[in-house]
Amino acid sequence: MTTILGVSCLYHDAAAAVVRDGEIVAAAQEERFTRKKHDRRYPEAAIAYCIDQIGGAEALDAVVFYEDPVLSLDRILKNAIELAPATGKTWAAAARSQLGQSLNVAERLRQILPPRAGDNVFFVDHHLSHAASAFYPSPFREAAIVVADGIGEWASTTIAAGNDRTVTPLRQIHYPHSLGLLYSAVTYHCGLKVNSGEYKLMGLAPYGEPRYADLILDRLVDLREDGSYRLDTAFFGYLDSEAATNAAFEELFGCKRRDPEAPITIDYMDIAASAQAVVEEAMFRLARRALRDAESRNLCLAGGVALNCVANGRLLQRLSNLDHIWIQPASGDAGGAVGAALELAHSQFGAARHAGVEHGRDGMRGSLLGPAFGSADIEAALKAKGLVYHRVESRATHDEAVAQALVEGLIIGRFDGPMEYGPRALGNRSILADPRRPDGQSYINQRIKFRESWRPFAPVVLADKAAEIFETEHDSPYMLLIADVRPELRRGEVDWHAFRDGTGDMMSVLNEERSTLPAITHVDYSARLQTVDAEGNPAFHRLMTAFYRLTGCPVLINTSFNVRGEPIVCTPEDAVACFINAGIDLLAIGDFLVFKHEQPEEIRRLEGTMQYEPD
Ligand SMILES: [Fe+2]
Repeated sequence: MTTILGVSCLYHDAAAAVVRDGEIVAAAQEERFTRKKHDRRYPEAAIAYCIDQIGGAEALDAVVFYEDPVLSLDRILKNAIELAPATGKTWAAAARSQLGQSLNVAERLRQILPPRAGDNVFFVDHHLSHAASAFYPSPFREAAIVVADGIGEWASTTIAAGNDRTVTPLRQIHYPHSLGLLYSAVTYHCGLKVNSGEYKLMGLAPYGEPRYADLILDRLVDLREDGSYRLDTAFFGYLDSEAATNAAFEELFGCKRRDPEAPITIDYMDIAASAQAVVEEAMFRLARRALRDAESRNLCLAGGVALNCVANGRLLQRLSNLDHIWIQPASGDAGGAVGAALELAHSQFGAARHAGVEHGRDGMRGSLLGPAFGSADIEAALKAKGLVYHRVESRATHDEAVAQALVEGLIIGRFDGPMEYGPRALGNRSILADPRRPDGQSYINQRIKFRESWRPFAPVVLADKAAEIFETEHDSPYMLLIADVRPELRRGEVDWHAFRDGTGDMMSVLNEERSTLPAITHVDYSARLQTVDAEGNPAFHRLMTAFYRLTGCPVLINTSFNVRGEPIVCTPEDAVACFINAGIDLLAIGDFLVFKHEQPEEIRRLEGTMQYEPD
C-alpha cells in the first residue's frame, strides 16, 4: 500500500490530492478554504484536508509536485535572453517566483513526510501530470490523450497514448506557440479576465458570427492539417510584457481592447465567435491526429482548453473515428495534483488501475472528493447566525419538500455530501431552479449571481432521460460537453437581423423563449449538459427524480453555489453566508431546510448587502 500526496500551485489554481495504491482518496482546491478565487499559493489548507483524510502525515510514502521547476526556469531564462532588453522588467519577477517559490515548495513538501519515507519528494512534468489526470481515472484500458493549456514548463500541447498503467507522450508543441494563450489573448482583448474569463468568452461566442476566423488563421495562427500549429508572436504581449496582446493585435482586429465595464458590442461578440471557431478546429485536428497516432477510438482530454465544453461537444459530432470521450473534471491546473500523484503511483510504485475499466465507470467518484460535513457542524452554523430551520431526517420527505419548492419557483441552495473537485458544481454545492421559468436566465443572474445576465445556465438532467431532451448519446457527468436541445422542444427563431442591425442589445435576444426550457437554452440552442445517474451521485439523483415525478421534467438549472467573484462554498458557514446575502429562497443543507421567508427581518434585510470584486 503506497500513499502519495500530489500538489499543484504557484501558477494557476492551487490544489492537493491524495492517492492510495492508485485510488484517489481526496482532492480539493485551495481557493475553497482561503475564499480567494483561483488562489495559487502553496495549498496549506487543501494539504491539511487531504492528510486528515488518510489519518495523518504518518501514512504518507511520497509527495509529488505537478511540474518540474528546473524546466520552467529554463524556459524563463531562455525567453528573457532571446528577447532582451524588452524582457528586462518581466523576467526578474518571473525568475524570482520560479526559483524562490518552487524550491520553497519542494522543501515544505519534504517536511511533511514522515522519517521512514526519507527523501521521497518527486516532480512530474506539467503536461505528463495533465495527461495522467486524463487517462488513469478514465474508464478506458487504452486511449489517445490530448493535453492543451496555456503553458507548462515548455509544452503547451501534448499528444500522448495511454495503455493500462503507462502514459507515453508522443508529440509536443512548445511555448510560445500555445492554443491556450491564443484563447486567453482574445479573452483579454474582449475585456474579460485572463485565466477565468475564458469560460465567459465561450458563452459569448454564440451571440456573434465568426467573421474574423479567416483573419486569425491567416495572420495569428498557422494551423496545419496534422494538428500542429505556430503563432505569429508579433501580435502577442505575453512574451515581454504583462499584457496578453499588443498594439499590433488591436490594429489587426480594428478595435481597442474592450473596457471591462463597457457594454459588449457586436465586434467583440464576433471576435469571440471567431476565436471559438479556431479553437474548435484546432482541437478537432489535434484529436484526429491523436486517435491515429495512438491507434485508438477512445479519447481523453485535460488542460485548461479541455474545459471548453463547446469544442469538446464538437469532437463527438465531427470525429468518425471516435467512440468514447472522457474529460478530466479538474482539467485546469488544479487537476495536476491528482495527475502527478497518479503518475507517480503507476510509474514508481506499480499501483493498480482503479477506474472501472471492466464495467465502464471512471475512477473520479463523481469528482465528489472534497470535504463533507455532518449534521452537528451544519446545525452549529445555522444556530450561530440565529436562523430559523427545520430538521427533516427522512430523505424522501426532504426531497419532496425541495422538489415542491422548485415547482413553486423558489431558488434553492443545495449543500450536501462531499464538495466537488474542479471548477464546476455538480449538485453538492449548487444553486438549483426550475428551468421552465421563461425569465429564468436573467432573473437568477441578477438575483443570485449578480453576474452578467447574458450568461446562460447549465442544465442537469437525469441520465436515462437525457436523449428525450437533448441531441446526445453520451453521458456528461462533469458538465464538460454541450448538446443541442431537441428540435421538437425549440421555439421560434432568434431574429438575428434585428439584433445585428439594430441596437446590438443582447437582452432583446435573451428574453426570447428559445425552447420549453428557456433558462438553459443558449441562443444557438446548445446547452452545457450535466447528466446524473443513481450510481454517480445517489442523493442528488433522488432529488432530481422527485422533481421529475412532480413535473414530468427531468431537468433542473444547476449553477454553482456562490455569488460573482466568490469561490464556490465549502463549509456550512460559507453556505449560510451566501444564503443570507444572495436571493436564495430555500437552503437545503444536509438534513435541514432553511426558508428565507421564515427568517427574522434583520436577516432578510441583509440580502444583497455584501460586495464582491467582479470576476
Ligand atoms: Fe496546465
